[in-house]
Amino acid sequence: MFKDLKKFTHAQKLKEWREQVLEVPEYFDSMENLHDCIHPGKIWLQMSDINELSHDTKLYRLIPARSTKTLPPFRAGQYIGLTLDINGVRTARPYSLVSSPNQHAYYELCIRKKEDGFVSVYLYDNLKAGDIVECTEPLGTFYHNNLFHGENLVFIAGGCGITPFISMLKDISERFLPLNVWVLFGCLTEKDIIFKQELEDIKMRRSNIKVQYTLSEADSNWKGECGFITQDKIKNFIGNVSDKFFYVVGNRDMYQFVFKELEELGIPKHRIAYEAYGTPDDVTKVIGWPSDLNASNKVEITVKYIETNQIKEKVFEAPCVEPVLNSLERELGLKLTIESGCRSGACALCRTKLTSGKIFVPPEVTIREVDQKFGYIHPCISYPLTKISLDLT
Ligand code: FES
Repeated sequence: MFKDLKKFTHAQKLKEWREQVLEVPEYFDSMENLHDCIHPGKIWLQMSDINELSHDTKLYRLIPARSTKTLPPFRAGQYIGLTLDINGVRTARPYSLVSSPNQHAYYELCIRKKEDGFVSVYLYDNLKAGDIVECTEPLGTFYHNNLFHGENLVFIAGGCGITPFISMLKDISERFLPLNVWVLFGCLTEKDIIFKQELEDIKMRRSNIKVQYTLSEADSNWKGECGFITQDKIKNFIGNVSDKFFYVVGNRDMYQFVFKELEELGIPKHRIAYEAYGTPDDVTKVIGWPSDLNASNKVEITVKYIETNQIKEKVFEAPCVEPVLNSLERELGLKLTIESGCRSGACALCRTKLTSGKIFVPPEVTIREVDQKFGYIHPCISYPLTKISLDLT
């Protein structure tokens, strides 16, 4: 009997001890810390170096700042979003990381000045060493997946579209990854070829990486390929097309052209990965845009949002050819930050409830079924066709 009582008391103590331990598992702190290091959400970065890459492109090196002690790891091909306050407008833009994912001292971004670009012009002209910027953690699904993409990879880039590939090539070359890569890089003129030195170095050092440049507006001194990246150029450069996986990054016009060439080469869609399109330069030219709608139309937008714990409402007019997110950012100024990442309808960070009205979304953008069912839109890539109401509460 005493023996049983002793056993019971011991078991009871053990149980209590276990419960205490379970309340605060010993791995809790380190797991939490690890998670926060990998997925901090927002990070602060300081510009440490800025270098000119070409007549309209700069390379920005960023190091951890303020509460960001270490840089989250990333996969070659991912991007970060830069949040900026420009003349009373709080907005963000995604930029691919061009640095190697194998070092964690800094990130590098390459930004091309788009003459009519609201953010790129600001960054290009104003950002200086020492400035601190709020950024998202690395995001995006455009990276090599060994299981699905295989070992023979074709990178097709137009202009600044080379940026995610630079990081991927650095990774492949530094880690001696057993991958065969063919890079087809299309630019307007020779002076638009960015990262040429890096590409040539990698090509020299790694026999499994081949690079071909194609210029659409080459001058008479150019000895390489001219025109566009056609199916003949692709076939001549890579040989057998059926055992390869294709990655494409460029602007909308290039996507349209290259996808058609790949289709004619018999490449199925599941063997092509592409970086999100971004917003169209002219949405009225996108397939499906209602041709009877006057592009100069202004549309009434009503938005409900929370400011200092109170629900507020704002009604304003915005052009029907402007993404709803841009209009919201301009009208709400610094009162509200609407989270965004890709600005292309891919990441769903800007997900917003549409309570009434009709919007236009370019056909290539896929919105999750559940979002469609419950009336959520991605304002970064939605255009108001009629009077609309949004709920940001
Ligand atoms: S910002 Fe990514 S879906 Fe809108």
